[in-house]
Amino acid sequence: MSEPRINVRDLTVRYGTKIALDRVTLDVMPGEMVSIVGPNGGGKTTLLKVILGMKAFDEGTVQILGGKPGHVAPGEVGYLPQINQHLRDFPIHSLDLVLMGRFPRLGLLKRPGPKDRELAAACLDIVGMSDFSDVPVQALSGGQLQRVFIARALAMEPKVLILDEPSTGLDAVSQEDFYVTLRRLRDKQGISILMVSHDIGVVSNYVDKIACLNRRIHYHGPVGEEIPEKVIQEVFGRNIQILVHNKNCVTCREGHSHE
Ligand SMILES: Nc1ncnc2c1ncn2[C@@H]1O[C@H](COP(=O)(O)OP(=O)(O)O)[C@@H](O)[C@H]1O
Ligand SMILES: [Mg+2]
Repeated sequence: MSEPRINVRDLTVRYGTKIALDRVTLDVMPGEMVSIVGPNGGGKTTLLKVILGMKAFDEGTVQILGGKPGHVAPGEVGYLPQINQHLRDFPIHSLDLVLMGRFPRLGLLKRPGPKDRELAAACLDIVGMSDFSDVPVQALSGGQLQRVFIARALAMEPKVLILDEPSTGLDAVSQEDFYVTLRRLRDKQGISILMVSHDIGVVSNYVDKIACLNRRIHYHGPVGEEIPEKVIQEVFGRNIQILVHNKNCVTCREGHSHE
């Protein structure tokens, strides 16, 4: 049996007296793709930050790549925070943005060489953006830019990729493309992926496990298992209708879109 790349046990996190995470337990195995879904303020970003070593925690244990958060070797863990539109103003070509992903591996004093450029180009290819290597990032659509950011994370050759709402701002088609790209990475390189998504409907088609988080993890199991109605109501509240997008999804079969 292989060891989990991310292992969270009974994690409790408070901001002052307010409990943001309450005895949360979660594993991400090598090559596994896991999505956290849940309402705003449910603690999703907090959980990612604890795993990344960016936020201290009160109780429980957290391990990433067998060690403490924040103590992994440079380049082992890639993190894509929520997309920052201001990064678009950065005057840089796609390939050079990807090349920046090599910096943690190179260390401070080394400049990227031909091998690094080759790798950066290969990463752009993986995300289907080879044709855009000389295009300034300002000229890219939201979905294209997001894929270039993924390529940058890949150029680091991480073992774990952590993404916070990576599909926000993408239209439905780009969203599906994006998840397909992530899956390809998982399949080709065995990267473990932990991401936050708002869209339980779309994401459930692509990931191995979904964890519903609203201060506590309410459900944590393989996709395909039906999420009990009671759990959905506890996590999202009674007034929100969740469309679970799978082969039984009546709404899809009738050709309606999910929003
Ligand atoms: N720096 C902070 N100081 C105080 N409270 C915070 C801070 N960051 C987040 N919170 C609170 O913790 C809860 C979880 O926030 P967050 O992890 O950002 O949720 P999500 O990403 O699911 O929207 C929210 O109630 C939020 O207001
Ligand atoms: Mg958040």
